[in-house]
Amino acid sequence: MSSALTDHAPLAELDEWDDFVATRYQQGKGEEEFRNYRADANPTVTEFYRLNHSHQTLDFVLKKKAEFAGLTRGKKSVWEMAEYLNTLVDDSDPDTDVTQIEHLLQTSEAIRKDGQPRWFVLTGMMHDLGKVLCLYGEPQWAVVGDTFPTGCAYSDQIVFPEFFAANPDSKVPEYQTKYGIYSPNCGLDNVHLSWGHDEYVYTVTRNYLPEPAQYMLRYHSFYPAHRHGAYRHLMNDHDEKMFEWVHKFNPYDLYSKGLERPNVKEIMPYYQDLVAEFFPAQISW
Ligand SMILES: [Fe+2]
Ligand SMILES: [Fe+2]
Repeated sequence: MSSALTDHAPLAELDEWDDFVATRYQQGKGEEEFRNYRADANPTVTEFYRLNHSHQTLDFVLKKKAEFAGLTRGKKSVWEMAEYLNTLVDDSDPDTDVTQIEHLLQTSEAIRKDGQPRWFVLTGMMHDLGKVLCLYGEPQWAVVGDTFPTGCAYSDQIVFPEFFAANPDSKVPEYQTKYGIYSPNCGLDNVHLSWGHDEYVYTVTRNYLPEPAQYMLRYHSFYPAHRHGAYRHLMNDHDEKMFEWVHKFNPYDLYSKGLERPNVKEIMPYYQDLVAEFFPAQISW
């Protein structure tokens, strides 16, 4: 593998990152054990974080937000995009590894079984659709990874904080104060989190889903905040209230993977109705 390709895709598959996060927060693990996350990270996951933390600068995030804000990648139905995401195949074992659509449906089925509202089920079904960024040719470090604010000091609650030393923003004093370019409790909507599948799926779906769903989609990988309570000084009261939903969503994302494989054919009519209830036939991506 050339080094350019490795920089682009150190992980054998995107799910390696999701699996690492799920292991890190395995049910029953205490805060002490979490601090040993390095033991759970294989060399490719570690390399992935090195790239993510070195390259996600404020400037990069602003460029990506501007690039995708206009949703100029064409109109597609939610189902076409789910099929497209499913082409993100790898050389792993099809008998044991769930497909991308199956992961989405495992998450949403767990939410449905708990009797949550329909929009919550739909949010589960859509939460990782933003990973199509990978199919647009974006490097893995700009698609997945725990997200964090850029343009202000890095919290020590972010995994592998040592890798920020190689981020050019580390050398910009203005970006390294507690508030950086932000003001106290300015609200997360004004904060530029590292770019990835969360912000993209939020951008695509924001006009169609209720606000708690938007928060779940936009911040589901913001582990420093929703699992460790970091960055409260940037959040406002409304964020605090809405984060109750982000907290509610997280266990479904983390712990639904081991559940039984969904019978896609059987549950599809329910999901077709559900998508049609909230979305027009096609939306802009
Ligand atoms: Fe995700
Ligand atoms: Fe997920």
